[in-house]
Amino acid sequence: MAARFSQEVCLKRYNPEEDKFYYQNFQVPLFSPTTALNILRYIYLNYDHSLSFNEGCGQGKCGCCLIKINGQPRLACNYIVTGSNQTLNLSPLDDRDLVVDFITR
Ligand code: FES
Repeated sequence: MAARFSQEVCLKRYNPEEDKFYYQNFQVPLFSPTTALNILRYIYLNYDHSLSFNEGCGQGKCGCCLIKINGQPRLACNYIVTGSNQTLNLSPLDDRDLVVDFITR
């Protein structure tokens, strides 16, 4: 099945070994509107198995998937991505102790 849209995604990741942030860009095919959490899952499964992020209930209740989406704190499992010409920027929260990538203490 051909993708209906393609979404440019920029991840801000954290490398604890070097105590540094770095950025990675991916082009993610969209077959239908999906969540930012599914975008992270797609990148993990298809591009980079080292990507680390939290996920829990998948229903907007537990708060595990709270990250910054386009600069605003949002639940990744609730944020719908429909496909846009603008880059989707995903980054960890600023005010948390980072473990790796999007994982916080
Ligand atoms: S996974 Fe529980 S709120 Fe998103």
